[in-house]
Amino acid sequence: MQRIIIIGYMGSGKTTVGRALAHNLGLSFYDLDWYIESRMHKTVKQLFDEKGEAGFRLIERNLLHELAEFENIVISCGGGTPCFFDNMAYLNAQSDTVYLKATPDVLHGHLKMGKTVRPLLLDKTEDEVQTFISRQLSERETYYNKAKYTLDVNLMDNYEKIKISVQKL
Ligand code: S3P
Repeated sequence: MQRIIIIGYMGSGKTTVGRALAHNLGLSFYDLDWYIESRMHKTVKQLFDEKGEAGFRLIERNLLHELAEFENIVISCGGGTPCFFDNMAYLNAQSDTVYLKATPDVLHGHLKMGKTVRPLLLDKTEDEVQTFISRQLSERETYYNKAKYTLDVNLMDNYEKIKISVQKL
């Protein structure tokens, strides 16, 4: 039985890398945000708007427990997932956890390219986003660093190559 959990900050490429890993290993792939959206019939943004961040974190935790019971899967978590409740300890107890590590500059670059809606960044200017990422990443690294494995995804070149090969799958 294999269960691999990908964690890391927004824009670190969790979904891209997770999907490629699942394909190469013959495992099923799930993105926790997408799972939440399909189970709740609402977008992550709607859940933040309606229930606040605390309400979203509760739903996220409950559905993480539901999803992480499946076997032979790769799951990409949301950027905040490991940082709430006992989620990181829970994940480490029953899976191989992988942290995709990148600098604030690289993450900011990836997020500028991304088209998805991230409630935590929506109300901020580009300068504010840069400061926010640096501050929040340093807070969250305490949790991320508990992963069993760390993968450096700073090289844009590697990131782009993974992305292109995943798009062909
Ligand atoms: C969040 C990251 C998002 C999503 C939500 C909150 C965070 O997922 O779960 O917007 O707290 O970092 P991605 O990391 O997949 O963007």
